[in-house]
Amino acid sequence: SDDATVLVETRGRVGLITLNRPKALNALNKATMDELVAAVTAFDADPGIGAVVITGSERAFAAGADIKEMASQSYMDMYAADWFRHWEDLTRLRIPLVAAVSGYALGGGCELAMMCDLIIAADTARFGQPEISLGVLPGMGGTQRLTRAVGKALAMDMILTGRQIDAEEALRAGLVSRVVPADRVLEEALEAAGTIAATSKPVAMLAKEAVGTAFETGVTHGVQIERRLFHSAFATEDQKEGMAAFVEKRTPDFHHR
Ligand code: HXC
Repeated sequence: SDDATVLVETRGRVGLITLNRPKALNALNKATMDELVAAVTAFDADPGIGAVVITGSERAFAAGADIKEMASQSYMDMYAADWFRHWEDLTRLRIPLVAAVSGYALGGGCELAMMCDLIIAADTARFGQPEISLGVLPGMGGTQRLTRAVGKALAMDMILTGRQIDAEEALRAGLVSRVVPADRVLEEALEAAGTIAATSKPVAMLAKEAVGTAFETGVTHGVQIERRLFHSAFATEDQKEGMAAFVEKRTPDFHHR
C-alpha cells in the first residue's frame, strides 16, 4: 500500500526491500525499522531466498533515524524502550545482505548500510555520521562498525566533525565494496545478490558467519572457528554436489541443504 514504509519484492532467489519514505529522505522511524526487520526475518527463513538487497531512493538511501520522532524523547523513554535495540536483530540474521546506496546515507542510514554485508555505492552516495551536530552520537553501531571498517583516523574525523565522505573516499577507505554509476547501482546490487543466491544458502550463511567472526574475535580463535565452520560445510549435500560438479566439469545444481 501507499502507507508501507518499505516495499518488499522478490526477483528470483533475491529479496528486494526498498525504503519507502522518499519525501522524508527515508528517515528511519520505528515503523520503518519494524517493517524492515520483519521483511528481512521472513527472507532469512525462506528457503527460496538466498540473499537480500536493501535500497532507498535516488536522493537518499536513508538520511538517518527520524529526528522528528526522537526530538522530544526523555532519557527514561529511550532507556525503557531500549531504543534501537531490536534494530540490531538485523545483524543476527544469517542471510547475506547487500545495501545499494544512492545519495545520502547519514547517521542511522550509514549505520543501516554498515549492518549489511556488502555495500554497493552509486557515485552519488554520501556517507556521514552527523549526529554530533544534533547533540547526540551514533547509536546504532556507528562508533563500532565505522571504526572497524575504516580505522580510527577517519572514524574519529567523521564522528567528531560530522564530515561526509563521497563514494570514492568510501571505496578507498574500505567502507564500500564497489562504486558504480548511479543508474547502475540497483542492477549491480541485484546481480551481486543473485550471484550469492545461486550458491548454497547454508554454505553462504557459514561464510558470512566466518567473516563476521573476524569483527568479534582475535585471529587465532577466529581461524579455529573458521575451520569448524569449514568442517560443517561437509554436512551439506551442496558440498557434495559442488565438488562433484567440479570433478565432472559441469555446473553445480545446489538444493540449498
Ligand atoms: C526526519 C528528515 C531527516 C531525518 C531529512 N528529513 N532527514 N526528517 N529525520 N533524519 C526530512 C526533512 O525534515 C524534510 O522534511 C525532508 O526530509 C527533506 O529534507 P531537506 O532537509 O529539506 O532536504 P535537503 O535540504 O536536500 O537536505 C538533505 C540533508 C538534510 C542534508 C540530508 O535533510 C539533513 O541534514 N538531514 C538530517 C541528517 C541527519 O542529521 N541525520 C542523522 C539523524 S540522527 P520537510 O517536512 O521539511 O519537507 C541519527 C541518530 C542515529 O541518525 C542513532 C541511531 C539510529
